Amino acid sequence: MNHIAALADRSPTPWPRKRSGGAAAAPRSRSLLLCTASLLAVLAFFYFSYARVSTSLLRGSLEAEAAAPRPSRCEPRVRALGQRFLSYAPHSGFSNQLSEFKNAIVAAAVLNRTLVVPPVLDHHAVALGSCPKFRVLDGGEIRLAVWESAVELLRTGRYVSMADIIDISSLVSSSMIRTIDFRVFASIWCGVNIDLACNNGATGESPLFASLKQCGSFLSGFNGNVDECLYSVDEDCRSTVWTYQNGNDGELDSFQPDEQLKRKKKLTYVRRRRDVYKALGPGSQADSATLLAFGSLFTSAYRGSQLYFDIHEAPKDQRIQSIIEKIEFLPFVPQILSAGKEFALTTIKAPFVCAQLRLLDGQFKNHWKTTFLTLKEKAESLRQNGPLPIHIFVMTDLPEGNWSKTYLGDLAGDVDNFKLHFLQEEDELVIRTAKELANGGHGLRVGFVPNSFARMDKLKKQCAPRKLADVLLYIEEVICSCASLGFVGTAGSTIAESIESMRKHDVCSS
Ligand SMILES: *[C@@H]1O[C@H](CO)[C@@H](O)[C@H](O)[C@H]1NC(C)=O
Ligand SMILES: *[C@@H]1O[C@H](CO)[C@@H](O)[C@H](O)[C@H]1NC(C)=O
Repeated sequence: MNHIAALADRSPTPWPRKRSGGAAAAPRSRSLLLCTASLLAVLAFFYFSYARVSTSLLRGSLEAEAAAPRPSRCEPRVRALGQRFLSYAPHSGFSNQLSEFKNAIVAAAVLNRTLVVPPVLDHHAVALGSCPKFRVLDGGEIRLAVWESAVELLRTGRYVSMADIIDISSLVSSSMIRTIDFRVFASIWCGVNIDLACNNGATGESPLFASLKQCGSFLSGFNGNVDECLYSVDEDCRSTVWTYQNGNDGELDSFQPDEQLKRKKKLTYVRRRRDVYKALGPGSQADSATLLAFGSLFTSAYRGSQLYFDIHEAPKDQRIQSIIEKIEFLPFVPQILSAGKEFALTTIKAPFVCAQLRLLDGQFKNHWKTTFLTLKEKAESLRQNGPLPIHIFVMTDLPEGNWSKTYLGDLAGDVDNFKLHFLQEEDELVIRTAKELANGGHGLRVGFVPNSFARMDKLKKQCAPRKLADVLLYIEEVICSCASLGFVGTAGSTIAESIESMRKHDVCSS
């Protein structure tokens, strides 16, 4: 204010000032002039300050753009790809991430979009919350959490793509789906050389990471939707169950929040079944967007309904129906399959039973009795029918040092009747397989790579994981699929379900 006052003091005064009661006494014409002049002055002041503010804003944003490219609309390089993409935000443990991956494949196929294949996230690095309790992260929040986890995996040299572990090559080569690796996708969308972020010793504070952060926030939808570029799906399991060609578009779902919950949480919405093609496909606003960004695609059966994604058959669409059948079971990549078979053939070297005992995590802590009882019944019946010893492959989260006071301890001590086998992180087979995966670059090979993308070799080299991936679980699952004497799993465990499915598809003999 002081400098404005100073300026006013120095400027020539066209009219003598009247200190008191002057305006009323002044001739009409003079007061009119005075009014007009001051109005002009005020207008001019506002105009110039507005102009100054807007140019400085503009300059600021240009400077920010030069330092850290931040798309504010779909960049020409993105439009030049000539494809439309679908991304989603996986969470929780591996089995959960795999089931979301399958839903994403279906959604991408229905909406005819290229699926952005994410990394395998650390166990529980991202959590959704609880659908039945209507307490979940918003779409934007979970998208950003997944983005940040992915960038952190790159930076710390632990990035493994879902397609490094799960073999989708036949789906892609038969053109059932199109995919793009997240790293290629992010490089192009964010206009950064993402290979420089891989195995980067820096703390993640550099300009590169700053622009990745901004880009992640943009792609998560924090700047809002952008016409013909980005559409973020904000319907989640609190409001929507996605269906396809079920003829029930818009109907209320059978599962609704009860009155008490509605009052307590001030919920105003209801859960509707919505046709994903009608809502987000041709003719919708979402359809014109180059990227369609879902949040979580987690679903599970709950009170006779599905929590979020209910597309399990498509009898009226043969293409989608065959994709659904095909993904019911997706195999591990060949390196993992052969590691599991190798262990069964050369280490166990005999018919065996597999025991999958989930004892420590979450709900499973309280079910030791049932879990061990099932194993005991199986082991006893095998012992009575011989030949002895009975070979048992054990996969469990209970450390060996804690086996002694459990039924596992009894089995381990009974060397005449039983021989136990297990695999550990530090075993040569596990380390060798993890190295093979790191060098294989499966995930980068299957996806779409635009001709203009010149950094594929750098990505392959720089972004191969330095720290070995957690492949123990996958190999164990394959070993259990080879157990010809049977399988005893933990009730309610998704790992047990996955093993049952592999056994049904006879993974071991293929
Ligand atoms: C699906 O997308 C591809 C490539 O973007 C296009 O060539 C094809 O015609 C589309 N198919 C349908 C059924 O819209
Ligand atoms: C396993 O053993 C360790 C060391 O003896 C002990 O501290 C821990 O509480 C045990 N865990 C369980 C689940 O029994």
